[in-house]
Amino acid sequence: MPHIISPSLLTADFTNLSQEIDMLNRSQAQWIHLDVMDGVFVPNISFGFPVIESVRKLTDKILDAHLMIVEPDRYIERFASAGVNVLTVQAEACIHLNRTIHRIKESRMKTGVALNPHTPLVMVEEVLDIADMILIMSVNPGFGGQTFISGSLDRISRLKKMIDDRQLSTLIQVDGGVALNNAKELLNAGCDVLVAGNAIFGNENPEQVISELYEL
Ligand code: DX5
Ligand code: ZN
Repeated sequence: MPHIISPSLLTADFTNLSQEIDMLNRSQAQWIHLDVMDGVFVPNISFGFPVIESVRKLTDKILDAHLMIVEPDRYIERFASAGVNVLTVQAEACIHLNRTIHRIKESRMKTGVALNPHTPLVMVEEVLDIADMILIMSVNPGFGGQTFISGSLDRISRLKKMIDDRQLSTLIQVDGGVALNNAKELLNAGCDVLVAGNAIFGNENPEQVISELYEL
């Protein structure tokens, strides 16, 4: 399977949201990454249902929502109704992660589980076979434009080995500080989905950056 590019809308120009989505529609990005922050799980607040529903009307691409919120179970059905296709929860926010994953599946979405940079990989060991994707956070979540934490590369390699050893097809997504200068290494380590915000929307030719990330 070719790798997937999931541009993070967090760094987009929200005064021109429809033009930004038009650009993504023209681009080779297969997914659009939507960062939902509640000001509790992370020290920042981003956007919620009205924005996601608006984005859904403007694109047929896969909507990949990354919930940095406490008690995500309360909103699973709402995200499904808003048109989200892949719903990722933070493992640290889920006391009953197995149940949360099953609820997301019952809501007809693909399931992702995210791990903060300090969270041991064993936190997802028992759900590797039921999750569709594991998201390795390569910055402390909350903000775009941060520096990639270098130890994340080794975490991705070790996670890839855990998945391969069990002959699973769980995808690996990486999020935070991903750019053209480290993307190839991340793919070589086993990443399937690259999330990038600042590297794409901070560039004067975002469509070109997406294409270069896609062609790697
Ligand atoms: C950070 C978010 C990321 C962020 C990535 O908490 O989860 O998706 O938008 O942005 P960059 O690529 O700029 O690090
Ligand atoms: Zn994210």
